[in-house]
Amino acid sequence: MARRKIVAGNWKMNMTPSEAVKLVEELKPLVASETVDVVFCVPAIDIVPVVEAVKGTNIAVGAENMYFEDKGAFTGEISADMLLDAGVKYVILGHSERRDYFKEDDVLLNKKVKKAFEKGLTPILCCGESLEQREMGVTMDWIRLQIKSDLVDVTAEQVASMVIAYEPIWAIGTGKTATTEQAQEVCKGIRELIAEMYDEATAEAVRIQYGGSVNAATAADLFSQPDIDGGLVGGAALKPDFGKIVNY
Ligand code: PGA
Repeated sequence: MARRKIVAGNWKMNMTPSEAVKLVEELKPLVASETVDVVFCVPAIDIVPVVEAVKGTNIAVGAENMYFEDKGAFTGEISADMLLDAGVKYVILGHSERRDYFKEDDVLLNKKVKKAFEKGLTPILCCGESLEQREMGVTMDWIRLQIKSDLVDVTAEQVASMVIAYEPIWAIGTGKTATTEQAQEVCKGIRELIAEMYDEATAEAVRIQYGGSVNAATAADLFSQPDIDGGLVGGAALKPDFGKIVNY
């Protein structure tokens, strides 16, 4: 069965609640699609108004992060139940900005991934190499280590339902998109790893996105690759261009 494409916007720390609602109103007609799943991953404080604003559309709402504990004394954190109750369906986990600036490691991420599945949120799990790692020739070793660690004790059925985003760190927010060949090569490598860890059917089912400076000009080529099932889009997700990326 052909995998359905999924294009997600990662708004990062942009848009106040009122700006968020305005942006949703602007993008709503542009991102309408019958064939592509569309997700807006928004800052926590924007979730409630954005869920309200997307009612009746094809847009699903995602969070940019979540904590693995159910509740309690974790000042500043947000639980899976809070996200679910607010109407969230997806959660980005392990974005390189979380890994770098907030020191999230794979042990923590594995807990978050398991909690998301336990509660019924779909993780968009990010992985990707630095420029140094690419130049040293260890890209795939690094990504295999990330994914293997993040998916400890995650079942085949769960993996089949999730999204993995390959985001080379050197391509994020830099305007430097990986070439189509580079992106396809790693996404294929990730699918092969899933086949190795689980089985062919799971590898065939899991959706793998490319992320890193995707724009309206590069989306079509990237998303047409056999192992690239859509994209995780930062900067261009805040502009009308996002409609062109969804309807590439
Ligand atoms: P970018 O961000 O499209 O602005 O490079 C992608 C991401 O970080 O998810």
